[in-house]
Amino acid sequence: MALTEEYYLPHSEPVPGREAIIRVRDLAAGFGERLIVDGLNLDVWRGEILGVVGASGTGKSVLTRTIIGLVPKRRGTVEVFGVDLDRASLKEGLAVERRWGVLFQQGALFSSLTVKQNIQVPLREHTNFSPRLLEEIAMLKLELVGLKPRAADLYPSELSGGMIKRAALARALALDPELIFLDEPTSGLDPIGAQDFDDLILTLRRTLGLTVFMVTHDLDSLSRACDRIAALGEKKVLAEGPFSEMRKATHPWLKDYFQGPRARAAQGLS
Ligand SMILES: Nc1ncnc2c1ncn2[C@@H]1O[C@H](COP(=O)(O)OP(=O)(O)OP(=O)(O)O)[C@@H](O)[C@H]1O
Ligand SMILES: [Mg+2]
Repeated sequence: MALTEEYYLPHSEPVPGREAIIRVRDLAAGFGERLIVDGLNLDVWRGEILGVVGASGTGKSVLTRTIIGLVPKRRGTVEVFGVDLDRASLKEGLAVERRWGVLFQQGALFSSLTVKQNIQVPLREHTNFSPRLLEEIAMLKLELVGLKPRAADLYPSELSGGMIKRAALARALALDPELIFLDEPTSGLDPIGAQDFDDLILTLRRTLGLTVFMVTHDLDSLSRACDRIAALGEKKVLAEGPFSEMRKATHPWLKDYFQGPRARAAQGLS
């Protein structure tokens, strides 16, 4: 533990009036004997785009899945919108789930459903909307993420990587969430496609007031789109702060990552 402590950057000071949309305290979660996160603390503030970074296998996806209740906790608490899902009634839990949308790293879309049907999945789960309304909402969300109406009836296998990400984002936005979880939304996209996606996220945050929890390896995305970064390692949050602060981190992995040539290029430094 002492080894880890010395690498810590000071955690962000609480700002009066800032509302934590996600509050994670002393979280432990894992599989079998093995804990993937242990003693993890994290706050996500209303309206921010938080970038979650860390080496492959450090538990970014597991953390995401634990926050939304898909991986059981061993210890600690997670509150989303002030509700601890472990203590909430089924009704309260469902009400909270309706307020977030998720773009998963794997299996972003159901392959046997068209784009339109994919977008309608959360609506069918959580509402009794008429077929006409389902149709209208799906077409609206398609437009919101910059897809053409003709993409509605295509199957995932007929889409490009960038279109799949956009369609998955449209599905994550189906229920007009206040919070979205994006797990590697720009992986596999070329730099222009990734930048377009970042711009889309920034636009959506500005117009819809979204809070965004975004797992990404993409240094350009981290510097361009994220207000703050939380770096995972050694089962916890090793450091958090704006991109510029991350360059001061002394942990070897963070140093390599944020002070290497790719990080300097992402900041426009030579
Ligand atoms: N369902 C599961 N059962 C057992 N182990 C799992 C399961 N899901 C994840 N793990 C393990 O948890 C660890 C963290 O995995 P996770 O997918 O969270 O990594 P990650 O940080 O998202 O990596 P990447 O950047 O490659 O996506 C890995 O060692 C993985 O093998
Ligand atoms: Mg992952």
